[in-house]
Amino acid sequence: MQLAARIRQIPPSATLALNAKANQLKAQGVDVVNFGVGEPDFDTPENIREAAIRAIQEGFTRYTPVGGIPELKDAVIQKFQEDYQLSYKPSEILVSCGGKHGLYNLFQVMFDPGDEVIIPAPFWVSYVPMALLAEAKPVVVPTQEANDFKLTVAELKASLTPRTKTLVLNSPSNPTGGVYTPKELEALGQVALEKGLYIISDDIYDKILFDGARFTNIAMLAPELKARTFVLNGVSKTYAMTGWRIGYLAGPEDGIQAATNLQSQSTSNPTSIAQKAAVEALNGPQDAVAAMVAEFAWRRDDILKRSLDIPGVTCTKPGGAFYLFPNFSAYYDRLKVGPDQKGSQVLADYLLEEAKLAAVPGVEFGEDRCLRFSYATSRERIATGLTRIKEALAKL
Ligand SMILES: Cc1ncc(COP(=O)(O)O)c(C=O)c1O
Repeated sequence: MQLAARIRQIPPSATLALNAKANQLKAQGVDVVNFGVGEPDFDTPENIREAAIRAIQEGFTRYTPVGGIPELKDAVIQKFQEDYQLSYKPSEILVSCGGKHGLYNLFQVMFDPGDEVIIPAPFWVSYVPMALLAEAKPVVVPTQEANDFKLTVAELKASLTPRTKTLVLNSPSNPTGGVYTPKELEALGQVALEKGLYIISDDIYDKILFDGARFTNIAMLAPELKARTFVLNGVSKTYAMTGWRIGYLAGPEDGIQAATNLQSQSTSNPTSIAQKAAVEALNGPQDAVAAMVAEFAWRRDDILKRSLDIPGVTCTKPGGAFYLFPNFSAYYDRLKVGPDQKGSQVLADYLLEEAKLAAVPGVEFGEDRCLRFSYATSRERIATGLTRIKEALAKL
């Protein structure tokens, strides 16, 4: 079959491909350390699982309203109010089958062919394919390691054209763990207001924040910014619920209603049972989240220290999420990277082969000098992994 042109330009997910490779080795009995996974290594808390079981037993198993049950929308509205002092109406909320699905819906309803969307690099792997699927033009803007890989006003201004419609922000960031300060967001927000940009604020890691930092998104800074911002969040990362597939969008009513309409013609409602579980996640006790964040903070310190112990490696200090993005480019000469090869890919292949260590090449996130390590794995595996990397690199 001749596949549609818009699908032919979409590569398969690199993170999933790496996982498949690591699992294949594991199946052959190889002891692989996997730093590739993008999900918490904890189980969904008991109270949330019980809420889902109750939903099944009570027969809550039919279609629900397309954009989410009122009870869940209320819990989402309450979260935004309590955590961020942002007020939304139910018509400004859409619950989707995971945050990824919410974003996909939004990209589809936001862009006409040729509209430009600014995507600061390093970026989460799905933004560019989502833009292409919506026939928008992804404008990838490289950021500097010296600025913690955060977009500056000068970089934003230099990338604007008359077709620029939207800016994507992701804080804490996947893959760097970088967190924007309120001051940095204010400066970017000023440009967005001057140029009439929309903003997509991907806050999926908002609760996984270290060093006592308080979360800020751009919508919290001014009502005029809230009026131009679509906020994405979900239960996957905060509540270790990646498999449940519940995410939510909040934003201007016209966009949310259009995205709801699109959802009504594609997936219909997210799973009824998972919605009940998400209500419990948002409304129930939050101590499991605090315990998980404390553990991630310990691991962040440990994996950062161990990475910086490797000669030639530099790395920004993550303020949140569960990823480290160290720069290994000092080794690319010794790896003899060919002209048609990418250094991070050659290094990732070498580490899998030599150290039995799986990490995602930075080129997949738009920054070839780095590898992404997920530290959603045990303290012992982190120690083993970094020892193996150090030994493998010393052989070069
Ligand atoms: C930055 C970012 N945004 C959104 C998502 C979507 O998560 P989910 O679809 O599980 O809600 C992810 C998941 O990896 C992510 O890393």
